[in-house]
Amino acid sequence: MTFEKQILVTGGLGFIGSNYLNKFVPLYPDRLFINIDAETYAADHDNLTIENAPNYKFSKADIRDLTSLRTAFEQYRPSVVLNFAAETHVDKSITGPALFIETNILGTHNLLTLSSEFKSSRFHQVSTDEVYGSLGPDDSAFTTDSPLLPNSPYSASKASADLLVRSYIKTFGLPATISRCSNNYGPNQDQTKLIPKFISLLLAGAKVPLYAQGENVRDWIFVEDHIDAIDLILQKGEIGKTYNIGGDCELKNIEIVKKLLALTGRDESFIEYVRDRPGHDFRYAIDNAEIGKELDWKPKYNFEAGLAKTFEFYRPKIEGQKHQ
Ligand SMILES: NC(=O)c1ccc[n+]([C@@H]2O[C@H](COP(=O)([O-])OP(=O)(O)OC[C@H]3O[C@@H](n4cnc5c(N)ncnc54)[C@H](O)[C@@H]3O)[C@@H](O)[C@H]2O)c1
Repeated sequence: MTFEKQILVTGGLGFIGSNYLNKFVPLYPDRLFINIDAETYAADHDNLTIENAPNYKFSKADIRDLTSLRTAFEQYRPSVVLNFAAETHVDKSITGPALFIETNILGTHNLLTLSSEFKSSRFHQVSTDEVYGSLGPDDSAFTTDSPLLPNSPYSASKASADLLVRSYIKTFGLPATISRCSNNYGPNQDQTKLIPKFISLLLAGAKVPLYAQGENVRDWIFVEDHIDAIDLILQKGEIGKTYNIGGDCELKNIEIVKKLLALTGRDESFIEYVRDRPGHDFRYAIDNAEIGKELDWKPKYNFEAGLAKTFEFYRPKIEGQKHQ
């Protein structure tokens, strides 16, 4: 079978990449999706519902390894390279930053080199609002003109990767785009991340640890809104451009916890206030005006609807684990 396009997706066994594949593999049967993933702790084949689709292939490979990546590029000659693969856990980047430098910077550089060499018609880098650093309570939301001021090894490694993408656009004419998204939540997120971890603890009758009195503010987006925005950028985005993607949903962590307490039928005695993480960014907020105006995109899910879907995804899994 011949395909119209070959889309090489990295990190497709993780949270956002798997949601992308589950939605777009069936939607675009004329495109071949090749998922490259190193199967780290964050990967799970069970995240995928499309593993038997005729337009899907999996190849276990590490983006830090140029030789095995080259083999994949030689075999599939991807027209589009969509880079989700990364080390993503901020706490892990504090205890072991080196891996973040290797995967997020050197790994992205390997993909850029090969995309350039094999003349891919599009490279897209999935980045994060954390590259902009932290906002004060009254600061305006981040725009793509905001300076890059990362505060953790994770966000510094993502900002470095973004700058490498920029350099490949400017120096080598690579047709690339970047998107910087706010905090995602939804199905398939690793159970070490805030929302699934807290749902799991509360359902098990345990307390949830909350940094800094829960005052930190994040801009939350349901994962499906993020992947829809990426698809739109791939279709209609301007080459060379960076797009911000946010959920228009700023919430303090304590507000999230209160919503989770209500969903799980627990009270505030289930909150354990713990010492803050070093370099903990106080607030992120994303200005969506540009992507809204240019690509006519806006988030479809409000937080209540997204959280209800998320809770219904995790509840049977967590209750199943309890009964094993
Ligand atoms: N989760 C969020 O809230 C959020 C927000 C904005 C941007 N992002 C970005 O989106 C992307 C995906 O995030 P996620 O939350 O799905 O991450 P995740 O940690 O759930 O998944 C990452 C995936 O990448 C794979 N991977 C890691 N190192 C690899 C390597 N060296 N070679 C090949 N594969 C490797 C892992 O095995 C895993 O399947 C990341 O680039 C992240 O920076 C995430």
